[in-house]
Amino acid sequence: MSKLFTALPSLQFRLMPEDASSISGRVDALYYFLVAVSTFFAGLIFVLVLYFALRYRHRPEVQQPATSHTGNLKLEITWIVIPFVLVMIMFGWGAKLFVEMRTMPPDALEVFVVGKQWMWKLQHPNGRREINELHVPVGRPVMLRMISEDVIHSFYVPAFRMKQDVLPGYYTTAWFEAQKTGRYHLFCAEYCGTEHSSMIGQVIVMEQEDYQRWLAGGDTERSVIELGQELFTGKGSCRTCHSPDSGPRGPDLTGLYGTTVHLQDGRKVTADENYLRESILRPGNKIVFGYESLMPPYEGQLSEEEVLQLIAYIKTLGGTEAAPGSPATRPAREPPTTAPAAMQPTSPSTQPAGARR
Ligand code: CUA
Repeated sequence: MSKLFTALPSLQFRLMPEDASSISGRVDALYYFLVAVSTFFAGLIFVLVLYFALRYRHRPEVQQPATSHTGNLKLEITWIVIPFVLVMIMFGWGAKLFVEMRTMPPDALEVFVVGKQWMWKLQHPNGRREINELHVPVGRPVMLRMISEDVIHSFYVPAFRMKQDVLPGYYTTAWFEAQKTGRYHLFCAEYCGTEHSSMIGQVIVMEQEDYQRWLAGGDTERSVIELGQELFTGKGSCRTCHSPDSGPRGPDLTGLYGTTVHLQDGRKVTADENYLRESILRPGNKIVFGYESLMPPYEGQLSEEEVLQLIAYIKTLGGTEAAPGSPATRPAREPPTTAPAAMQPTSPSTQPAGARR
């Protein structure tokens, strides 16, 4: 028992995890504001309840008033307006922060994250891979493009105040900018099976030079784009049907990324990462206007890493090299002119090819 007490002062107690990213201070400020407002009103109500209970307790010698009170307009307006203003401040403040957290900076370093039971697999643009560890440079925005191989996981770095679900079958993104070098906890924050609690890792924030040295240190032979190109021409044999001279077999993918694609059924979709992924794995879902459903599904034949690499390569074929979230500038692709006029989607040139998120 005495041992426990002597050990107590050395225990480090933190109300909040370390703040190590560009937004963590502002997330904390909002949180403290919420706590302060809640504490103030909880305290005020508690004190008033106690005071009224004592002040107006039943006493036989005090006469009950004959008429009941009809109301007090000033008081009622006060207790409507003040809470309204307070919650609108919370809403505006929170919304502003949320939008900032969800808007990917255009110059961010893109890292691929694949979650699986029960580990994190990561790949950097130059091809270097790591497991349960993420090395990043300090002072540079890093964007994570994430997907799961199995169930829902959640990528959570408390020191960066960053948490994003990692879903099977759909890319999610998140970004952070680390502002202090060091090692920070990485957790899976979504219960994902028996080993969920051990699906943990570290984010290692390094000085720019150290990071460059680390990046070059792995046994990396090919970059993500080169790996994608290899798949495009090799294993995937995509090139056979998707090249400028492939004719009616398949659409040319040059300049595709970020544009609006007109589909056989009249729908229009933005050629973003999720569309490209679906069209690789289940091409029958969305047939491009003027083409037939000829492509075999690649589901089960490519790993999530390979699909990410393929998409990274397809993005280099041109198109809006726009960052996700920013509006695309390329005009929408027009459907083939051989189509009957009645089937033409209405004025495709006026359709903004906004990059959907
Ligand atoms: Cu992965 Cu919990």
